[in-house]
Amino acid sequence: MGHGICQLFAQTGKYNVTLRDVEQQFIDNGMKMITESLQRFVQKGSISQIESREILKRIHPTLDPNEAFQKADLIVEAVTEDPRVKKEVIIQADKLAQPHTIIASNTSTISITEIASVTRRPEKVCGMHFFNPPQLMKLIEIVRGKDTSSETVNVIERTAISLGKEPLIVNKDSPGFIVNRVLIPALNEASFLVENGVAKPEDVDKGCVLALNWPMGPLKLLDYIGIDTVVSIADVMVQRTGDQKFLPSQLLRRMVSENRLGRKTGKGFYDWAKRDDV
Ligand code: 3HC
Repeated sequence: MGHGICQLFAQTGKYNVTLRDVEQQFIDNGMKMITESLQRFVQKGSISQIESREILKRIHPTLDPNEAFQKADLIVEAVTEDPRVKKEVIIQADKLAQPHTIIASNTSTISITEIASVTRRPEKVCGMHFFNPPQLMKLIEIVRGKDTSSETVNVIERTAISLGKEPLIVNKDSPGFIVNRVLIPALNEASFLVENGVAKPEDVDKGCVLALNWPMGPLKLLDYIGIDTVVSIADVMVQRTGDQKFLPSQLLRRMVSENRLGRKTGKGFYDWAKRDDV
């Protein structure tokens, strides 16, 4: 989601953005996705070609953590949904960033209190949870950790509004926050329907689109978010709640082991290489 978040900040015209990743190929891919997304906005006339170029100029890609963290007023962490990896990145950001800098995590379910505990600034750490695709989805969940200050929450709330989003404050650092607490069991349940042979993916999706007015069915959404991401979120929810009801299906686990991760690897419940499936 990092590329979408960078694009969103740059698109407002109010922020200079540094996009940091650990390998050049990830940076190149992120910039390619941003360029393609901007092109869609140009095609529908919401921005001009010149504006698109200016937005791209506001995004500075780098592999260098010093360049990324030292001058930032706000750091939005959007690395893989693994507490160990997240903490490593947050420790580095905390070490290099200026004292006033706020560190916001785009985690889907990991405890903000736990993430903040590895820093020297827990009052300046909070959750800033975007939804995929961040360029289009209206909501940002702002999650208050045990030590997050009201000032930090206020700054992130104003920032969310400046991005044209609707903020929602999650007052208790609870697993899955609000939206994923509802969404992840629903996506998992949809995968059980396929695993148990009740219906094929297209029909599970058709049911939810036509009967519930979902913009896309749960299996397509699983592909869209990434099967590995959903499995990681479900696993963290089991760990945090101790409740086995969040356990991901065997089918989802098998898909992860086979690298059938959805859109990002070209294959999941659907074949994303065929553009008309997208
Ligand atoms: N950048 C720019 N524009 C984009 C775009 C992008 N990345 N993706 C789609 N669009 C535009 C299209 O150009 C199109 O514009 P138009 O209406 O003016 O022609 C419009 O958005 C609709 O796109 P499509 O026709 O291609 O497809 P859809 O109508 O299905 O819309 C969607 C795409 C907005 C993604 C819609 O399917 C949707 O809302 N899906 C559900 C997404 C969702 O539930 N997200 C939340 C996931 S949960 C999460 O992220 C939390 C995490 O922690 C797991």
